[in-house]
Amino acid sequence: MPVDVVREIELIEQLEQNHHLTKQEFQELLELRFATGNIDEQQEMDQILFAKARKIQNRIFGNQIYIRGLIEFTNYCKNNCYYCGIRRENGAVERYRLSREQILDCCKEGYQLGYRTFVLQGGEDPYFTDDRICDIVSTMKDNHPDCAITLSLGERERESYERFYQAGAERYLLRHETANESHYRWLHPPELSLEHRKACLRALKEIGYQVGAGFMVGSPGQTVEHLAEDLEFLWELQPHMIGIGPFISHKETPFANEKNGSVEQTLFLIGILRLMFPKCLIPATTALGTLAADGRERGILSGANVIMPNLSPVSVREQYSLYDNKICTGEESAQCTQCIQNRMKNIGKRIVVDRGDYPNNQ
Ligand code: 5AD
Ligand code: FES
Repeated sequence: MPVDVVREIELIEQLEQNHHLTKQEFQELLELRFATGNIDEQQEMDQILFAKARKIQNRIFGNQIYIRGLIEFTNYCKNNCYYCGIRRENGAVERYRLSREQILDCCKEGYQLGYRTFVLQGGEDPYFTDDRICDIVSTMKDNHPDCAITLSLGERERESYERFYQAGAERYLLRHETANESHYRWLHPPELSLEHRKACLRALKEIGYQVGAGFMVGSPGQTVEHLAEDLEFLWELQPHMIGIGPFISHKETPFANEKNGSVEQTLFLIGILRLMFPKCLIPATTALGTLAADGRERGILSGANVIMPNLSPVSVREQYSLYDNKICTGEESAQCTQCIQNRMKNIGKRIVVDRGDYPNNQ
């Protein structure tokens, strides 16, 4: 066996046992996998990691996959992140906001389809004041008391997060995007800071939310060292959910000509995350499904255990264009739930009607 593979197996076994490596070791592991141009070696390393990730996944979650109904309720955004297609300065995108009634209708429909978690995701849109969000959240909660409500609205004041929590939101997704200061500045305009993002994540945790963080794989300027820092940061944060997906360029952004991230690297990182965080809720993301037709299935087979199908009205889906060629935006995607059910069945998994909380007692 080649010496690189031997060393890699050693690191993976260490990770399996301790759920953790030093930053140096994380970096070494990623370098061994990402630097080798030998496809056989890559596949060998992947299979070793994914088998261990699946074993853990199976022990904690069996063959169950959780679904979250994603409602992309506004594509207005006051931010100007260089990678994102709904950034403020993209004048080419048609902006929309769902009305309170439209959002509630999405939930009603989702409930009938078996969803017990709704994710309200949107750009940072000042129209949706704290009062408006609280009203929507508490009405959702009144209508569907057995459902979990997840918010993903970006950075707000601690007091706002507290109000949303009191209104009935229990989970919050806020990807950190990159844990390295200078890389964060490379991806974001000066008015955004990693420090503030981290402060938001800590506040959310303190308030009592189940918190989700995460990053893009292969974003412009990203190095293996940055990825090791992402893993270190996640270890320190101990989130309940971790969303990662490949960076995909969007033609109306400053990163229009940048290279897309890699599906294989994303899958490898999902495997590592499953070993680090056995109980974590890790989605096989839409971005993964966009770069490979079987990306989400492969995400699940690498250790992910959540899928987030789109519940937004089909008429607006095209406009929530974070990146180019996003899947599930056409007419055919009115049936995402059925599609996902079939896809999961084909790989021996089962979608369950369940809130899919973070497992506390296993
Ligand atoms: N490619 C991949 N992911 C992206 N996101 C935003 N823009 C892109 C892109 N161009 C991700 C970010 C954000 C999440 C909602 O979508 O990580 O947190
Ligand atoms: Fe949306 Fe398949 S999941 S069309």
